[in-house]
Amino acid sequence: MSYDENIRIGELLNNAESFAVLEKHLPEFVKEPTFKMATNFTLDQLAALPQVDISLSTLQILKQELAAIAFEATVQKQEIGAPTGNKEGISLEGKVIVVTGAGSGIGRASAVIMGSRGAKLVLVDFNEQTGEETLALVRENGGEATFVQADVSKESDVQNYIQKAVEAYGKIDVAFNNAGILQKFQRFQDISEEEFTRIMDVNVKGIFLGMKYALQVMDKQGYGHIINTASTTAIRAEHSLAAYTASKHAVAGLTKAAALEYVRKGIRINAICPGGVATTLTAAVPQSLQESGYVPEEFPNMRIGRYAEPEELAQIVAFLASDYSSYMTGSIILADGGITL
Ligand SMILES: NC(=O)c1ccc[n+]([C@@H]2O[C@H](COP(=O)([O-])OP(=O)(O)OC[C@H]3O[C@@H](n4cnc5c(N)ncnc54)[C@H](O)[C@@H]3O)[C@@H](O)[C@H]2O)c1
Repeated sequence: MSYDENIRIGELLNNAESFAVLEKHLPEFVKEPTFKMATNFTLDQLAALPQVDISLSTLQILKQELAAIAFEATVQKQEIGAPTGNKEGISLEGKVIVVTGAGSGIGRASAVIMGSRGAKLVLVDFNEQTGEETLALVRENGGEATFVQADVSKESDVQNYIQKAVEAYGKIDVAFNNAGILQKFQRFQDISEEEFTRIMDVNVKGIFLGMKYALQVMDKQGYGHIINTASTTAIRAEHSLAAYTASKHAVAGLTKAAALEYVRKGIRINAICPGGVATTLTAAVPQSLQESGYVPEEFPNMRIGRYAEPEELAQIVAFLASDYSSYMTGSIILADGGITL
């Protein structure tokens, strides 16, 4: 394949020829930590960072010279069927599954795949428009679903979507508590109380409430499975993301505590830990860094050389939602392209 503007710095540094081009035009930058750490950025995104001084003419020359290089795709993107669904996988026929954060990214991809495999879905998001779009996508791919608008950090909204799920389908087999938000990259000492509370409200209280009200239903049923979306920051810190890191550690804590309590009650609780996934959440990072003028000293190193597609996480969620994950509970499951190695 030839150079295109979506190729990430990580890939440019891995290829001897493109490395030489970068070294020729940006000798200092190649040595500089910020540059090396920004492996997940494209050249344009990198050049837009305030700390990185690449002139427009240098950028053009770089692109011209890179265009002459043949890139071997170091990692092939997986052809995994979604967003058109994937009927060939493990059947989820008869399962009722609640998905929060269903309007985008991992939640949307999971909904489409699980719907196409026979699950009846209750899609939850506070963004009504994107939630309705997911509903349409699920139906286009042969799935059955309803959408409930809710803010997962509001108790009455959570009670409402759980009640709607039971009214619509009579039970809840799986609750996928996935809605979450990313913090502004900032030094610890600069994080405002407001920002800390915003992150905790959605990422911790939202998961707590989703678990609490799903557990009330599942306890009566005598069965059920809760899948929480944590992050690699549930088990390691990420630079300049203290509040987010703390919130995802808390998700792991809630997962394990509930798994322990309900292990003999037929209810399993697990968490997935994505690393970097190409979603709205990560797409917003370069611009937010540009606006704030703050760049962390380190970025996560996706050793695999690319972001995950949301569908790659969705396949794991679909497996977990099936009975084939029957011996798993309290598991904190990594799918991170080698970030935590
Ligand atoms: N993208 C990544 O690299 C990555 C990595 C690790 C963990 N995660 C986690 O994965 C989960 C999904 O993220 P994504 O990358 O798909 O993001 P995304 O922004 O594409 O989707 C998140 C969805 O959640 C919804 N949402 C946000 N706050 C909400 C609230 N209070 N109530 C209801 N809905 C709300 C949004 O409207 C959006 O539709 C999050 O918990 C995130 O922390 C993502």
